[in-house]
Amino acid sequence: MSRPIALDVAVPSEDLSYTVRVGAGLLDGIGGLLTRELPRARRVRVISDDNVWPLHGETLEASLVSAGLDVSVQTISPGERSKTPAQLLELVSGALAAGLSRHDVVVALGGGVVGDIAGLTAALFMRGIPVVQCPTSLLAQVDASVGGKVAVDLPEGKNLLGAFHFPRAVVIDPTVLQTLPDDELGCGLAEMLKHGALFSTEHWQELLDHSEAIYDRDPDVLGRLVATSVALKAACVSRDPLEMAGAGKGRVLLNLGHTVGHAIEQASKFELKHGQCVGLGLIATARISARRGLAGAELEDIVVHALRRLRLPIDLERWLRPPVVTDVDAALRHDKKREKSTVTYIGLRELGEPVVESLRVDEILGLLRG
Ligand SMILES: NC(=O)c1ccc[n+]([C@@H]2O[C@H](COP(=O)([O-])OP(=O)(O)OC[C@H]3O[C@@H](n4cnc5c(N)ncnc54)[C@H](O)[C@@H]3O)[C@@H](O)[C@H]2O)c1
Repeated sequence: MSRPIALDVAVPSEDLSYTVRVGAGLLDGIGGLLTRELPRARRVRVISDDNVWPLHGETLEASLVSAGLDVSVQTISPGERSKTPAQLLELVSGALAAGLSRHDVVVALGGGVVGDIAGLTAALFMRGIPVVQCPTSLLAQVDASVGGKVAVDLPEGKNLLGAFHFPRAVVIDPTVLQTLPDDELGCGLAEMLKHGALFSTEHWQELLDHSEAIYDRDPDVLGRLVATSVALKAACVSRDPLEMAGAGKGRVLLNLGHTVGHAIEQASKFELKHGQCVGLGLIATARISARRGLAGAELEDIVVHALRRLRLPIDLERWLRPPVVTDVDAALRHDKKREKSTVTYIGLRELGEPVVESLRVDEILGLLRG
């Protein structure tokens, strides 16, 4: 097995940094890591979900206990439906009942849902205690666990009650992906392709070259690719930790593929998963970029080829036909990034060359349908 990779993520505006470690078997050593990082912590509140805890909880718990930590666990039902204010309050109350003090720590063991709600629990508990993220879905490993955004949803929309709460450490063990279903793996791959499309054609190509090994869950290949994707996202986040930078410089770029992707996700009534929709959003980006004269027509073929190779859906046309296109249109008009009737749209000149554009919402479908 390869040695673990450690990446430092700087948050200059907050004068802090944290380390993301990627390596097979890291969960077995998390107790030692935690006592080194947080020497005053005595109690650990693990937050996980009912799928992940039975699969990977024992390894984590055994390591924490053997490091002399007092461990308690609270699990939530899997899925987005648990990302609610009511669930958040239950987690805060749970941490109180478990006797956590402000020197103690929350450990998030799960996908992006667990990472987001556990992170917000830690942000709010006694005005903020440390959180260590142990992401177990590929999407959470390459995206949700890095960057410090934590949130729950409101009836009015996703992630509307949240904060920035940077993790004290992120521990990524690619062996946990053995138990992740293929479609969930695909969702993470779509976000990794997005990182490649934005910042690195080499990363894009490596993903394609290793698609078999990825689906075989080869921990060395996955570890290396995850570390690259995290490094690409982390560099972007470090330039703009609080999402304040002007057009073209910061986190706004990470919305590549998301404007149309979100609209399809909603129109599909969540039949398609988020990452699958981001993949379709990447096709949309290529087509819109070509039709606006930014990119060549071949960009769309390049994107479709990549999605096919990574076993992701490619049927964008299905969402551009009546009757469902009406729902896509309605969802686009409610895009939260919409300012008056325009959206900030990330286009591509080619792979590795994003551009930030302002597009009228009513132009998007016209451009896509040609
Ligand atoms: N904070 C951020 O910057 C950020 C970025 C992207 C996404 N997100 C959030 O992340 C969430 C989506 O994350 P997700 O795709 O991980 O969803 P998720 O947490 O619902 O996980 C997907 C499914 O996989 C299961 N699972 C996770 N790890 C597993 C494993 N190792 N083995 C078996 N099953 C496993 C989960 O139980 C769940 O059923 C959304 O709520 C989204 O808003 C946050």
